[in-house]
Amino acid sequence: MKTYTTIEWEDGVVRMLDQRLLPDELVYREYRKPAEVAEAIRTMVIRGAPAIGAAAAYGLALAALGSSADTVDELRRELDQAGQVLRQARPTAVNLAWALERIERGLFASEPLSVEEARLYILEEAQAIAVEDVDTNRRMGLNGLSLVPDQARILHHCNTGALATVDYGTALGVIRTAHEHGKQVHVYVDETRPRLQGARLTTWELQQLGIPQTLIVDGASGYMMSKVGIDLCLVGCDRMAANGDTANKIGTFNLALAAHAHGVPFYVVLPLSTVDFTIQSGEEIPIEERPEEEITLVGDCRISPHGVQVANPAFDVTPARYITAIITERGVAYPPFAESLARLRQGQTHETR
Ligand code: MRU
Repeated sequence: MKTYTTIEWEDGVVRMLDQRLLPDELVYREYRKPAEVAEAIRTMVIRGAPAIGAAAAYGLALAALGSSADTVDELRRELDQAGQVLRQARPTAVNLAWALERIERGLFASEPLSVEEARLYILEEAQAIAVEDVDTNRRMGLNGLSLVPDQARILHHCNTGALATVDYGTALGVIRTAHEHGKQVHVYVDETRPRLQGARLTTWELQQLGIPQTLIVDGASGYMMSKVGIDLCLVGCDRMAANGDTANKIGTFNLALAAHAHGVPFYVVLPLSTVDFTIQSGEEIPIEERPEEEITLVGDCRISPHGVQVANPAFDVTPARYITAIITERGVAYPPFAESLARLRQGQTHETR
């Protein structure tokens, strides 16, 4: 049974589960200023693209409610500043900018509002983003259901569950839906170096859901495909280009290559808000570089010699040609993705093979 909440708004305060302490401690933290929310996103108190989007939206609501602006222009300047700080927190997950833009666009496209009305609009829109996320995830779960055979052995990377979203999950949401519909599935969980989202978070979520699992190191996925037999891979996404190129947690590209070599279907699960239709290919996706200590230390223990050169890209880009299909809340997109994604964006809601 699930016993936690990733993020919620309560009486002018944003409450988040500190994911850095899981699975050992269940600690909730409260945030009252947008800069604090930005810091929580940067330091990965909260992580996962849709969860980051919801956090940013609530961060903007904190800016609006905490503002002493007398005019809408003044409020707008303060919101711009808060938005900039939030946008810089993590650059790859496009849901962050998407959520802020959705609020800003709606706010200034509508009838001129009073300062009080504008404040209320921002809070309501942030809450709508959070509520819609859960519904979107459940739809993705149902849309992916037919792609998961009974008895499926599924390889999953990073954490894409309730913790990475407001609730339910993206790729893990598809696994949950299959489980809820009585399919016997077994999940092979990539540990996901260096932050270990798989080993710490996905295993914890799957345990609570009663879904059978086996934890493996990232480098074991090719072996598992060749020796154990994997029926499909399910991963999430932090930003997809209009052609289907997919930025996701570092190691996703290696997994896609291994899947391709073994003829294993490779599915990406994402809400359409994660597709950045302004960019045509993965070349244009900014990739976040994180501190080298994430690699040279394990916990507090240094494992590499001082002075070693380190590269720590937090994400990689899987070219669209390695992706079998993309599961969204509006349906499943098949190659060529530039066309099928565009159709889903326009509102077509059935399978687009
Ligand atoms: O660095 P993280 O933990 O924020 O990365 C998370 C992922 O890469 C997920 O796969 C992604 O956000 C999509 S799942 C909701």
